[in-house]
Amino acid sequence: MKRFLIIGAGLSGLSAAITLAERGLPCALFSLQPSERAQSVLAEGGINAALNTMHEDDSPAEHFADTVRGGCGLADPEAVRGLTEHAPEILRRLERCGVPFHMQNGTLMLRNFGGQKKKRTAYARSSTGKMIMTALIDEARKYEAAGLIHRFPHHEFLRLLLRADKSCAGVRCRDCYTGEIRDYFGAVLLCCGGMNGLFPEMTTGTTQNSGDAAAAVFMQGVPFGNPEMLQYHPTTVGISGKRCLVSEAARGEGGRLFIEKNGARWYFMEELYPELGNLMPRDVVAREMFRVRQSPGCGGQVYLDLTGLSAETWAQKLSDLREELIAYLSLDPKREPVPVKEGIHYFMGGIAVDAKHRAGLRGLYAAGECACQYHGANRLGGNSMLGALYGGKTAAETAAAEAQDAEPDCPVQEDEPLLTPADPRLILQIRDILLSGLGIVRDETTLQGALQSLAELSAARESNAREKARLCLAGAMLQAALERRESRGAHYRADFPQSDEAYRKTTVVCCENGAASVKFVPLPEEGASV
Ligand code: FUM
Repeated sequence: MKRFLIIGAGLSGLSAAITLAERGLPCALFSLQPSERAQSVLAEGGINAALNTMHEDDSPAEHFADTVRGGCGLADPEAVRGLTEHAPEILRRLERCGVPFHMQNGTLMLRNFGGQKKKRTAYARSSTGKMIMTALIDEARKYEAAGLIHRFPHHEFLRLLLRADKSCAGVRCRDCYTGEIRDYFGAVLLCCGGMNGLFPEMTTGTTQNSGDAAAAVFMQGVPFGNPEMLQYHPTTVGISGKRCLVSEAARGEGGRLFIEKNGARWYFMEELYPELGNLMPRDVVAREMFRVRQSPGCGGQVYLDLTGLSAETWAQKLSDLREELIAYLSLDPKREPVPVKEGIHYFMGGIAVDAKHRAGLRGLYAAGECACQYHGANRLGGNSMLGALYGGKTAAETAAAEAQDAEPDCPVQEDEPLLTPADPRLILQIRDILLSGLGIVRDETTLQGALQSLAELSAARESNAREKARLCLAGAMLQAALERRESRGAHYRADFPQSDEAYRKTTVVCCENGAASVKFVPLPEEGASV
């Protein structure tokens, strides 16, 4: 019998599990937290699809063009074509599953989001992720009852089980309640989310996504793509222990960024980018915020002005965002501007996959934020939930088509001391080094300095397996940023401020014997994957 093991029960994991179950294929769904606590429930502003319900002549071809342009030429065109063409049917299916998208007179309403000229983002106020997850959790329950989805909540992924030929035979997981460690055999679909735990307190994402799973598979030889591409979201606010997202929806509904300049408000995005203004792609907005803060005559704080939004917009579209700001900042955005700053929000890079979501080892697939797919050098807002849903489905379809009935299990493998967590002080030291190199603006000196600090940190201690894995992955991220000697999307080099066609390639980093190597690989031609 074919066996499927899914790691992660957020959007991409659920999408994969439901896809397999619909085909009558049973799967095991492992997750550290139950689906209700996955990062996906925090997704706010919406999900993109060229539904054209606002009669703006939108089409999947325009969604494709915006996504490829937003990704600054680094997105895989075949994968993006599939994503954008399937988006309308994915949205309609979510609607049938009961997601309460904003409707008016029977029409599904769409809002503006960054980097897109047409209204294309469906939403449920600014709690879209929570609503989609609620519907999918319910959908999955039907298949759980039928014995097709078997949940393993509170299970921690420890490592892949590899055969001698380096193909993937399964996973080793630990039951966090009983402490029992077990090996499970089957095709593996990694849906384990972004590497937020590499940046504690600095990301909008949950640090329950610790990055340990990513680091473990990286150490086991799974290649990663574009790890230097970190998305800074322009509008975040600091609350205790994390960055809290102020959804792009706020700008989509008319919010305006300004800074005080010589005593007056300067709405800099509107002046500098008259066409899309506050809704330029995130990499551009974040960089401009970083720049204007240092401009002569400017104050050091950028504000988001939402005071001009209508009472109807607040009541029907952003009421939850307002409640959040009142609760966390004691600030009513209806009446006063919100002080905002760029914060790490999304990892465009991750496990390298092809358009069918095959990862570098036979029998291994990856989808969602842990995978490097669809977004190139900069993700458009609203494409992440879409990418997770479509990616999980595609990975499951590919795994279902490729899995063999009776694959040999692999011999019992040595257990590295993966059970000891990384020292929290080391986690913060690695974070600070990463931030010093991988800021919004980078250059050779800061990147070399960060690599040097990382090497010194590593040499100064006897690290356990998890710590070694973190250090190795962090080193690979910095090395990739150092070797991409150009500026593109989220990767801006002050010493190489232009894009260079020679680098319109995927950065692929690999780990062999604890050391990372970097190469640049041409993008696949459309239609190349079989
Ligand atoms: O700002 C937001 O609501 C974020 C959406 C996204 O990252 O897709």
